Amino acid sequence: MPPNTAKELQTVKLTGQNKIAVIVGGTSGIGAAVARLLAKLGCRRVVISGRSEARAERVLKLLKDLAPEDSEIEVVFVKSDVLESKGMRAAAEGIREAVGDAGIDYLVMTQNGPPTGLIEETADGCERGFAIQAVSRFALAYLLTTGGALAPNAIVMSVCNQGQDLPDLSVDDLSLKQRLGKMSRTGFFMAQSKRDSVVLDSITEEFDYNAFPGFLKYIFLLAMKLIGILAAPDAEKKLGTGRYFDYKLNPKKIGSWASEKKNREEL
Ligand SMILES: NC(=O)c1ccc[n+]([C@@H]2O[C@H](COP(=O)([O-])OP(=O)(O)OC[C@H]3O[C@@H](n4cnc5c(N)ncnc54)[C@H](OP(=O)(O)O)[C@@H]3O)[C@@H](O)[C@H]2O)c1
Repeated sequence: MPPNTAKELQTVKLTGQNKIAVIVGGTSGIGAAVARLLAKLGCRRVVISGRSEARAERVLKLLKDLAPEDSEIEVVFVKSDVLESKGMRAAAEGIREAVGDAGIDYLVMTQNGPPTGLIEETADGCERGFAIQAVSRFALAYLLTTGGALAPNAIVMSVCNQGQDLPDLSVDDLSLKQRLGKMSRTGFFMAQSKRDSVVLDSITEEFDYNAFPGFLKYIFLLAMKLIGILAAPDAEKKLGTGRYFDYKLNPKKIGSWASEKKNREEL
């Protein structure tokens, strides 16, 4: 039985624990909702990142309003565009500066919206949605963990549609150019969504957790309340050692492509 998130959240309190959270894509949607929840639970510092200063300003104000009176919350916006590799590196650097020596306790990545069903290439030669949804999440997790920006027992969470499959995906056609025009826009949109899932799941499978002492887990899910459960002291006992969960916190399996070691190595 998955934990009852609403019930569990009633007992989670982070005030006084000096917890630092970073939400990439925290200026709107799911990311902003996760930021609001972490502020409400009593995080000491909440850093949000994204492109829009106007949206960020509104979220930062809300975070201050929602924080418990005894939490002395600090809220920070790191302006970043993670479309291209240069922006990904700058985002990692900006986040490191905003966090300081204490290290990130919760790194939550929600950047990007749904796929577009179109191909628009970035200066890196990468399809736009894929660059933000998959490449930037790998790059930020990699740069921040290898750069020592995470606190011991940090939680890294990526919000996306995990566990999909695209059995005929080729690593030579990650932009799916060879499929364009051969299917409807809806079909292409679905293929993009599956490609993003397959690639993110593969990266997660290959991530060497043992290389980062204290690095707890990298979790994919579609439920903002999970962060509240993860913040609970006995979270791992309740959720087990899995890395993938559905929106009800049931453990989820990855698809056939990402399950193949050969595919992941090629990727
Ligand atoms: N909503 C759903 O029902 C649903 C379902 C399945 C999966 N998901 C996944 O959940 C994630 C979040 O979805 P959402 O509905 O919350 O999306 P959203 O409301 O569009 O929010 C996306 C966030 O990503 C940021 N972002 C977008 N492009 C960026 C860029 N180039 N550089 C930096 N930040 C960027 C946006 O900030 P700025 O605009 O300020 O840059 C915004 O904060 C997505 O990956 C989506 O695929 C959502």
